[in-house]
Amino acid sequence: MMEFGFKTKSCRETSGVIMPFFEDKIIMKHEELKKMIEHLKKTDKFNGKLGEMYNFTREIDGVIQDIVLIGLGKEEEINLEKIKVNISKAYKKLKELKDTDIAVRMIRTDAIETNEILKAMTIALELTDYTFDKYKSKKEDKKDVFISFTGCNVSDIEEEDVKDSIEEGIDIANGVVIARDLVNEPANEMYPEVLGFKVQELGETFGFEVEVLGQEKIEELGMEAFLSVAKGSTNEPKLIVMRYFGDNENKKKRLGLVGKGLTFDSGGYSLKPTDSMATMKSDMGGAAAVIGAMTSIAKRDLKINVIGVVAACENMIDGNAYKAGDIIGSMAGKTIEVLNTDAEGRLTLADAMTYIKTEEKVTEIVELATLTGAALVALGETTTALVTNNDDLCSEVVSVSEYTGERAWKLPAFEEYKELIKSDIADLKNIGGRYAGTITAGLFVGEFAEETPWVHMDIAGTAWTDKPVTYKGKGGTGVPVNTIYELAKGRANR
Ligand code: BES
Ligand code: MG
Ligand code: ZN
Repeated sequence: MMEFGFKTKSCRETSGVIMPFFEDKIIMKHEELKKMIEHLKKTDKFNGKLGEMYNFTREIDGVIQDIVLIGLGKEEEINLEKIKVNISKAYKKLKELKDTDIAVRMIRTDAIETNEILKAMTIALELTDYTFDKYKSKKEDKKDVFISFTGCNVSDIEEEDVKDSIEEGIDIANGVVIARDLVNEPANEMYPEVLGFKVQELGETFGFEVEVLGQEKIEELGMEAFLSVAKGSTNEPKLIVMRYFGDNENKKKRLGLVGKGLTFDSGGYSLKPTDSMATMKSDMGGAAAVIGAMTSIAKRDLKINVIGVVAACENMIDGNAYKAGDIIGSMAGKTIEVLNTDAEGRLTLADAMTYIKTEEKVTEIVELATLTGAALVALGETTTALVTNNDDLCSEVVSVSEYTGERAWKLPAFEEYKELIKSDIADLKNIGGRYAGTITAGLFVGEFAEETPWVHMDIAGTAWTDKPVTYKGKGGTGVPVNTIYELAKGRANR
């Protein structure tokens, strides 16, 4: 548990202190510390350069304290992500030193609003503290941590706003944590039915409506593409629908969120090699992000209508499984030639897109999916790949992602690429050949968006990490919950 306070303690009372500084702008009133820092500068031990860290222990008025100095780089180059990354780094140091009562000195700058900084620091601290030890017999004993933001000249910001910024940070981080937990759950524990129950629970807790449709209902809707993928599994597919109506005045305006929900992807008969399959419990990262974002949106009572849809199933091998060469239908009526059973995500998404358009009547769609290994090849683990049919909506996603630090970049969607997914004997084929794999996968899903403004986020590279980076630990990252939340907030009440 992490608890936050504001000005509730002075720096002098806590066992650990984080002091962030800009490069060459190290201002310190306190005499003794001032001397110390001047010395560190002179000896080139700490200059406030980005990521530079120095720690020491001191005694003040009988209290022994660990002080961590952390560099933020040049003030004019500061952004929220730099703050998050470096506050996280300093906090990790204090954790190592076993400090649980921590003061964070506020960052003074005209470049970013104080409330934004508070929110970002709260998110970074909460997420740095995340662990997934549910399945460990012996759990590391996790001490409660108390964080106090101090040393802030807050005459320009109301106490209420300060509290609200911290609370908002907590609510966002909590959505990210929910997404991480869902991704980290193994597929034997988290299959479609369990995911459905879990979302129902979350809906009750956070205040959104949940409907879970089973096999029969999915058949009635004619979701043949979705059902074809699910056929090889003994676990029944579920269509999970989340509805949050925060803006009753504009009931017709609805943001749609579609998340890929493969609770496991073996590849089917186009079987994955062992190493690639090992992390495929994470193939519901898009679903997890939609669910996490729904909780944050509802918790913050955003004035917006948001519908989330997840077509949850498993891609498995069985006598009844779908096969390479099969031609299948879809809810939209388009026929699809399945040339690779491992390109299953786009088939489930195709029907989820049609459903959210025709049954839930959304006016725009953001669709999130761990869709292609090619996204990793193109953009690596730090940037989400975007494909869109609407540049305005896409630009908005890009600028929000810059703000949240969950980077995203648009790929081209020229007409030529659409040729690559046309089938000789059906309307579409589910693979587009060796090249431009992320684009053709996205465009396949786009065929089912039709005229509705749509942005596709391929998070195959960003939803999961094998090594801990900054405030993201190993495993599910919870990307891009924060971006979806901020996008919804930006559109709220517009
Ligand atoms: N779930 C995978 C994509 C993936 C790969 C996610 C690596 C996370 C990390 C998806 O279902 C898949 O298998 N895609 C194929 C598509 C191909 C057959 C056109 C791929 O990327 O190889
Ligand atoms: Mg696959
Ligand atoms: Zn997949």
